[in-house]
Amino acid sequence: MVRHRPKPRQIQILFHYFLATFLFFYLLYLHVLHTSFSSPPSAPSRTCAIFFYGLAKNLPITLPSTFQKIILPNPTCTIYYQTQNLTHTTTPHALWDSENGTISYTALLSSNISNILITPPSPSPYLPYLLSKCCSPGSTPTSMSNLHQSWSSLSLLIPFFTSYSHIGIFRNDVVFIDEVNIFESDFAIPRWGSFWGFNDRMFYGKKENAVKWAERFKRLKEFDEPILKGETYLKWLLKDEKIEFVDTCFLRVRVDGRIKVNDCRAGDRPYDPANPHLEQ
Ligand SMILES: *[C@@H]1O[C@H](CO)[C@@H](O)[C@H](O)[C@H]1NC(C)=O
Ligand SMILES: *[C@@H]1O[C@H](CO)[C@@H](O)[C@H](O)[C@H]1NC(C)=O
Ligand SMILES: *[C@@H]1O[C@H](CO)[C@@H](O)[C@H](O)[C@H]1NC(C)=O
Repeated sequence: MVRHRPKPRQIQILFHYFLATFLFFYLLYLHVLHTSFSSPPSAPSRTCAIFFYGLAKNLPITLPSTFQKIILPNPTCTIYYQTQNLTHTTTPHALWDSENGTISYTALLSSNISNILITPPSPSPYLPYLLSKCCSPGSTPTSMSNLHQSWSSLSLLIPFFTSYSHIGIFRNDVVFIDEVNIFESDFAIPRWGSFWGFNDRMFYGKKENAVKWAERFKRLKEFDEPILKGETYLKWLLKDEKIEFVDTCFLRVRVDGRIKVNDCRAGDRPYDPANPHLEQ
């Protein structure tokens, strides 16, 4: 049996090798120590943007709570306010209310909101498909085309999400009742409607989840039901996501100024009984 004995030269090389390895890891340790102490304790990459979208039907009624409950409580967020370039709207609903009236953007244009996007109504290849899934009880082809317009508005906003880590997305035709802090959740959707389910009008949370919530057209043709409703489609679209349902509440506003007071838990959180616009 031949026993290998290290020569002094080999021992020297081995020693230098271990010394170099030790120095490398020590320097790495110092580097990590330095970086973790020189950054602020909160994640530096938390940046946020808040988007309002849709058809801003009655700005004098909707803007005050938009500032109080959403914009002012989130002072670090960049605000984008999108609305369609329409001067009037008419929606004859089959079962419940119809609306008909003119729209003025004066209150918006004279506000201090810096990013205002007034976009023309956009035709898209998805409208005929959506109309072929018409209509759930209470909706009409007009409400289907309004749904299509609101989804188109959302699509316009998605490219802006990339620069931010947290996103809030809100409709522009509502009165906000509850204050929102958009950092509070990774994937928040308020409960909504008679079945207290998926709300297709409000989201806040992380950017990746904002894209999942806002991208309505990409998987539309996979939806297998004969009739499409905004809320049931969203429920199907997000079936694999971990969603936090929140109690945040808002009331829809019609173009003529009527406020849908029953939107919050069938009216058990009334808005302001003295308000002349209340509709019972
Ligand atoms: C809306 O569209 C009309 C043309 O239809 C245009 O003249 C007007 O400047 C637009 N308004 C805004 C605020 O973009
Ligand atoms: C909407 O109101 C306008 C007047 O403001 C009227 O001329 C028009 O006929 C109304 N449309 C419907 C569908 O009621
Ligand atoms: C912007 O306008 C709102 C509503 O009028 C007001 O509450 C807020 O203080 C204003 N913000 C700035 C920075 O001027």
